[in-house]
Amino acid sequence: MKLEVKNISKAFKETDGIKLVLNDISFEVEEGEIVTLLGPSGCGKTTMLSIIAGFKKQDKGSVLLNDQPVIEAGPDKAFMFQNYALYPWMTVEKNILFPMVQAKMDKEKQRDRLEYLLRISRLEEYRNYYPQKISGGMKQRTALVRALAVKPEILLMDEPLGALDIEMRQSLQNELLEIFKNEKLTVIIVTHDVSEAIYLSDRVILMSTNYGEIILNEKIDLPYPRNPKDEKFKEYVGLLSNKFIEAGTRKKEELE
Ligand SMILES: Nc1ncnc2c1ncn2[C@@H]1O[C@H](COP(=O)(O)OP(=O)(O)OP(=O)(O)O)[C@@H](O)[C@H]1O
Ligand SMILES: [Mg+2]
Repeated sequence: MKLEVKNISKAFKETDGIKLVLNDISFEVEEGEIVTLLGPSGCGKTTMLSIIAGFKKQDKGSVLLNDQPVIEAGPDKAFMFQNYALYPWMTVEKNILFPMVQAKMDKEKQRDRLEYLLRISRLEEYRNYYPQKISGGMKQRTALVRALAVKPEILLMDEPLGALDIEMRQSLQNELLEIFKNEKLTVIIVTHDVSEAIYLSDRVILMSTNYGEIILNEKIDLPYPRNPKDEKFKEYVGLLSNKFIEAGTRKKEELE
């Protein structure tokens, strides 16, 4: 198994006590699989992704990547933040090049990869702009291709398309799928968009407000590229939308 999340619990200290966010959560991801973590706001998606990335430490349980426990963050676990964190002192181009320079990629390969990434993100004209001079969507696209610059063991994306308009979203969804499949990446995408989850992923894991409890772990049995107008696609939308509502109203279990 590429990734094993085993019995993860996590609480945060607050001024008035401790707040349990995740209670005993387990799931697995296969090599080359695209999985979405779906769930209502505040159910613990970002927390879970940060634990997998090694940014946050769980209180209980373990995360195994290639059978090795995750103990710290590293370039093998590429993370794309919910709020695109670009280096403000670097141009778009420099931002995208940065991970390749860090990985000491061959110079010529860097140039080729950069051109490819600028092309698919349609940022060629903006390559010499600084982040504060480009739109939110452009920032997001820059962050996106930067996360893809060096092939990671696993790609963790927190609402990667959240700030984009519908048209850009749809075209980037297709670009993303092409890259994921071409490069056989293992990917976890956090989203709260049911339709996006079905469009993009091999499997959808639905977390609920009951300390992140997984209430559905469903394989999406449709060939790519998917068509939202398809009957079976619509059936999945129906199923997941109902479960999504349930996920948002789940009562927290009594815990001692
Ligand atoms: N560093 C922290 N300190 C205290 N509480 C935190 C911290 N980080 C997250 N939380 C709390 O943990 C819960 C889950 O947060 P998380 O960001 O994981 O949710 P989410 O599912 O990603 O939500 P959204 O869809 O809104 O991004 C929230 O109640 C949040 O307030
Ligand atoms: Mg979040």
